[in-house]
Amino acid sequence: MESLRAAIERFDPRVPIERAWTPPSVWYVDPRMADVERQAVFQRSWQPVARVAQLQEVGSYRSGCLAGEPWLVIRGEDGVLRAFHNVCLHKGRELLTGAGTARELVCGYHAWRYASDGRLRSAPGIAGIEDFDRRALSLAPMRLECWGPWVFICGDPEAEGLAGSIPELDAALQASGWHTLRFVARKSWEVACNWKVVVDNYLDGGYHVPHMHPSLAAQIDMRSYRTECYSRSSIQTAQGRKDAGDGLDFDPEERVGAGAIYGWIYPNFMVNRYGRCLDANHVIPLDHQRCRVEYEFYFEPGAADEGFAAASIEQADVTQREDIEICESVQRGLGSSAYDRGRYAPRVEQGEHHFHRLLAQALRALDSSVPPSPS
Ligand code: FES
Ligand SMILES: [Fe+2]
Repeated sequence: MESLRAAIERFDPRVPIERAWTPPSVWYVDPRMADVERQAVFQRSWQPVARVAQLQEVGSYRSGCLAGEPWLVIRGEDGVLRAFHNVCLHKGRELLTGAGTARELVCGYHAWRYASDGRLRSAPGIAGIEDFDRRALSLAPMRLECWGPWVFICGDPEAEGLAGSIPELDAALQASGWHTLRFVARKSWEVACNWKVVVDNYLDGGYHVPHMHPSLAAQIDMRSYRTECYSRSSIQTAQGRKDAGDGLDFDPEERVGAGAIYGWIYPNFMVNRYGRCLDANHVIPLDHQRCRVEYEFYFEPGAADEGFAAASIEQADVTQREDIEICESVQRGLGSSAYDRGRYAPRVEQGEHHFHRLLAQALRALDSSVPPSPS
């Protein structure tokens, strides 16, 4: 069996798209790769975990586990929103589950108490203990940044700030008036594929749209499809079709508006702005061959009442089901003994190549901790 390090190095991020081969299929089918990505990709990148609106009240918290890393976010008594690794420093129990409101964090195992700013307040029953440094037992902080309607966290203290690393997408969304939109609904789908298959599919520059999404293709002028790649993001844009209409029960110009913006933030978050709506997609790895895709839908005030929102969510559902079918089929194909690597369509799949480059850089940076021989 090929070593993981060799498999990582088989994709060279310096090779231009015209000559490049896609990453080998082992990146998508090997459980060891998921462990490496957890460290190299997910612990070092910004991940959305909540909406700011869910954490307005003092003491409101949310918690979860993303790519094996338990996290919690809480608004402290001083009004400051903070993120921590959700783990008690006594024996490692997760401190919080789910969402709620708490003035302090009390571990359910042996009742160690932490203030909402992470300081250890008390540890009952430790009489006789020596060299007990309370400050060294504060909760381990994570980075937190609010961007748009979301709270993002990041486990890497050295990481560049989120908004500062995606100025182009930030500006495009500001210009689209996204701050006026309201949260309407949330949906999620479990997909039997590696998380990267979903991201690859999203970033193929519309290549699959005419073949797999007839109802979406009817709304978009595919000749106008463009991809721009930036340091930690890319933006795909497309204009609404002016010549459509026949056979559609909605106005494509109303749905697509002046143009659609499909923004991707490394590694697994997408923000799609079109017409009167915005949807956000978060692709969460569950294991090496399963992921969950979480959608949130936002609309202009009034769109929900008019039934426009329901119709739009229904359209997204149709598109998503078509994408799930593709992605699950690709995952089975990636496991085929007859497939190893593919090629890129250079004028179309730049976003996908850009993603693979960023991923390869992150994986190579962690190279020394990757086992050189097969396990
Ligand atoms: S693990 Fe939290 S108090 Fe023991
Ligand atoms: Fe698609």
